[in-house]
Amino acid sequence: MSIDINTPPILRFGAGSVDSIGELLKTLGAERPIVVTDGFLVSTGVAARVADALTAAGLQASVYDGTIPDPTTDSLENGLEAIRAHEADSIVALGGGSPIDTAKALSVLAVRGGHMRELKAPFQFVGPALPVIAVPTTAGTGSEVTQFTIITDSETNEKMLCAGPGYLPKAAVVDFELTVSMPPRLTADTGIDALTHAIEAYVSRKANPISDTYALAAISRIGRYLRRAYRDGGDREAREEMMTAATLAGMAFSNASVALVHGMSRPLGAHFHIAHGMANAMLFAEITAFSVEHAAPRYATCARTLGVATETDSDAAAADALVQELRTLAREVEVPTPATRGIDRAEWHERVPVMAQQALASGSPNNNPRVPTAEEIEQLYAAIYEETSPTAG
Ligand SMILES: [Fe+2]
Repeated sequence: MSIDINTPPILRFGAGSVDSIGELLKTLGAERPIVVTDGFLVSTGVAARVADALTAAGLQASVYDGTIPDPTTDSLENGLEAIRAHEADSIVALGGGSPIDTAKALSVLAVRGGHMRELKAPFQFVGPALPVIAVPTTAGTGSEVTQFTIITDSETNEKMLCAGPGYLPKAAVVDFELTVSMPPRLTADTGIDALTHAIEAYVSRKANPISDTYALAAISRIGRYLRRAYRDGGDREAREEMMTAATLAGMAFSNASVALVHGMSRPLGAHFHIAHGMANAMLFAEITAFSVEHAAPRYATCARTLGVATETDSDAAAADALVQELRTLAREVEVPTPATRGIDRAEWHERVPVMAQQALASGSPNNNPRVPTAEEIEQLYAAIYEETSPTAG
């Protein structure tokens, strides 16, 4: 059996690295980059900073700021138009997961044409695409280093996983200073997303020695620095370590896949408009509890690496400590439950069957240590509402 490890050819990181992006694009042969971002990053001046760095290097840059959270197939139309109007030869993807995922989809459609629905997993897209240079402004999604994009089908409301080396950025510029202004809520949600990537990659049925190394390096950092970054956003050491962790976790799951938590969180995002990181955070503890017995030694290693168990604990005790830690962490960083988020109980239960079908169809649950049936996924969704509901006691 052979295993491919795919990562961006160039990974540039460190404080202020974003300012050298113009020179980086020139080395890639780009002349007409378009910055794909959102209105928030225009309002903060970050988009202009990137555009200025491109212009200073002699490039013809333009900015498209029309990306939306949880990008839909319909939302790609305006971006494609902007790429054509600028005759862009490259894309700078600037933002959190949504702008970067949008940019990846646009890079493919701009060359290939067609519709993202045709590229839904398990289809593997190998290219060609416009070169993407990804600049993350949150520490969590890892999208800057992954061969995936997540696009919601505007007709069916399904969050489609689209996969393959064709989505891999040509370069990632990982500058932790861009994350220092993240508010605590976003710090927590994106940080837990990164932890989910790392743990899911480590317990995945597609895990391999290289992805394991990335995953454990990420888990160790998140154990030491997530709470610090949450409590004090100005803690530069914590911000830098969380940024490194998020990128490592991205490299881990890009090469080992995610599993049941992500399989179930995507439908949650699509149906109830819960941000991706928060949706993971809502599900993480319960789904881990469901899974641990089927890979106790792997979960135990995660617990010890995270710092919530020791070598002297049995694997079963360590795995249990991991579940407890995920519950504690969610409480500490005030992750809402479906009920406290204001989701109606009846509506939740009504959506469960279709969410379960969509979770299974993504293929991610098949990578889980315990592969669930549709019925078990339905039971998990139902239990997550009821067991975390304040009225349930
Ligand atoms: Fe994720």
